[in-house]
Amino acid sequence: MAKDGNLDVLVICGSLRKGSYNAALARMLPKLAPPAMSFRPAPPFDTFPHYNFDIQHSSGFPPDVMTWADAIRAADAIIIVSPEYNWSIPGPLKNAIDWVSRMKDQPFKDKPVAVQSAAGGLLGGSRMQYHLRQSLISLDVQWFGRPEVIVNFAAKKFDEKTLELTDQPTIDMVKAQLAAFEIFARRVML
Ligand SMILES: Cc1cc2nc3c(=O)[nH]c(=O)nc-3n(C[C@H](O)[C@H](O)[C@H](O)COP(=O)(O)O)c2cc1C
Repeated sequence: MAKDGNLDVLVICGSLRKGSYNAALARMLPKLAPPAMSFRPAPPFDTFPHYNFDIQHSSGFPPDVMTWADAIRAADAIIIVSPEYNWSIPGPLKNAIDWVSRMKDQPFKDKPVAVQSAAGGLLGGSRMQYHLRQSLISLDVQWFGRPEVIVNFAAKKFDEKTLELTDQPTIDMVKAQLAAFEIFARRVML
């Protein structure tokens, strides 16, 4: 935990694109959170090679994989904000999780993790959330359940030009999750 008692939250965004609604949602978190939570974006993971044991075996974990893992280890808690691709976890994010899952000091172990998703469809990325939960439970995270943050029909919830989140029920949903996640994370932190 930070010296000032703030809960240090690492934010992992599952979308790589510039105009991403999920990245826009991630940028809103400091504004919508209780005062004693601070947020920092995770280092990039889009440069990771596809996971291949032969690479790990011959040259070890790539430096940017180590950097990503270190950032996860250093955080008190993690929030993953991600779209759903074909009803599941976007490939680059899953690849990143697969890489660090092979580490001896596996960084997700015991970390409090919450998830949020924004997507174009009716179900708002909820199927990705269930798949992510399944994968991360296998890595011994402390999974936060409710309140959920599921932003469906994302294009209608953000300002077209600024990408500011403008939909009040969504804003309230994010606030409620962050307040509950802070309590949960402080309770389960080792
Ligand atoms: C490869 C791909 C697969 C997608 N699959 C889904 C899906 O299963 N469910 C859904 O609601 N939207 C799906 N979409 C649409 C995304 O929800 C939409 O593009 C969204 O804006 C992506 O998030 P982003 O804005 O953060 O990049 C898909 C988009 C792509 C590019």
